[in-house]
Amino acid sequence: MAQRPVFDLDPASWTIDIVRLAEELAVAARDGRLPKAIVPTDLYGQSVDLDALEALAGQYDVRLVLDSAESLGASYLDGRKAGTGGDAAILSFNGNKIITTSGGGMLVTKHKAWADEARFLATQARDPAPHYEHSTFGYNYRLSNICAAIGLGQMEVLDDRVARRRAICERYHKALSRPGITFMPEPEGQRSTRWLTALTIDPAKAGVSREDVRLMLLQHEIEARPLWKPMHMQPLYAGAPYHGAGVDEALFANGLCLPSGSDMSDGQQDEVIERIAGLLEETR
Ligand SMILES: Cc1ncc(COP(=O)(O)O)c(C=O)c1O
Repeated sequence: MAQRPVFDLDPASWTIDIVRLAEELAVAARDGRLPKAIVPTDLYGQSVDLDALEALAGQYDVRLVLDSAESLGASYLDGRKAGTGGDAAILSFNGNKIITTSGGGMLVTKHKAWADEARFLATQARDPAPHYEHSTFGYNYRLSNICAAIGLGQMEVLDDRVARRRAICERYHKALSRPGITFMPEPEGQRSTRWLTALTIDPAKAGVSREDVRLMLLQHEIEARPLWKPMHMQPLYAGAPYHGAGVDEALFANGLCLPSGSDMSDGQQDEVIERIAGLLEETR
C-alpha cells in the first residue's frame, strides 16, 4: 500500500499533474514496473483532463479508473460527462454529494466483464447454485431498490442543482474577489459543477490566513473546511513515493471550501460573504 506513488496537482486545474504522471510512467516503463492502473481524482466537481489521461493510459496499456465521486453532473470538453471516461469510473451518492441516496455509489464501466465481476463481488460472490456456494470472498455492497429509486428521482433535479452550485460559486466570486483570494480555476471548455466553492487565501496579500477566516466563521456557527489533505501527507501514505513540487501542500495550507449546499438561501450566503468581507476589510 505504502509504495503506491502519489502525484501533485496542476495549478491550472487543481487536478492531477499530467506532466509528472507522464514522466513517472516513462521511468516505470523503462524499469519494467508499470502499474496496473492509474486512479486520478476529479476535484470539487471538476473533471480531470480525460483526453490526456486516456492517451497516456493507451500509450502504456495501463487501465484508467477514475474517481469521479465528486463530479456527477460536470462536463469535460465537448459536453462529455464526468464519470464516463477511462475503463471505469466511480460516482458517490454519499449524503454530502450533489444528489444522494443517503449512502452508496455507482461503478460505471465500458467493459461488460468488469460490470459482471463487480456485480458478482458486490452481491456476496455467490456461485451459480441453488444453495450458497462461494469460491471467493464477496461483499454486501448492494444499493437497495429503495435507495436506487431515491437516486433516480433526484437525477431529474441534477441540472438544477448544478446550476445552483455554479450560481453560488459565481456569487462568492463576485463578492470576494480581491488580492490574495484565488478561486479554483475552471479550465477552458470544462464545466465544473462547483460542488464546493474552493479558494485559497494568501495571508501575505489578503492580510488574513485561511485559519483566521475558518475560525471566525466557526464562531458564528458557519462550517467551512480546509481543502483535502494531500495523500502523501496522510500517515497511511507516509512512505509512498511523491511526485510533485508542493502545489498540493500549498493548496492545503491556504485552501478553504465555503458553504455551498444547493439549498443554501441567498440570505444565508450573504451572511457568509459579509462576515468574510468584513474580516478582510478590518485587516486592510
Ligand atoms: C474523491 C472521493 N472519492 C471517494 C469518496 C468516497 O465516496 P463514498 O463516501 O460514497 O464512499 C469521496 C467522498 O465521499 C470523494 O470525495
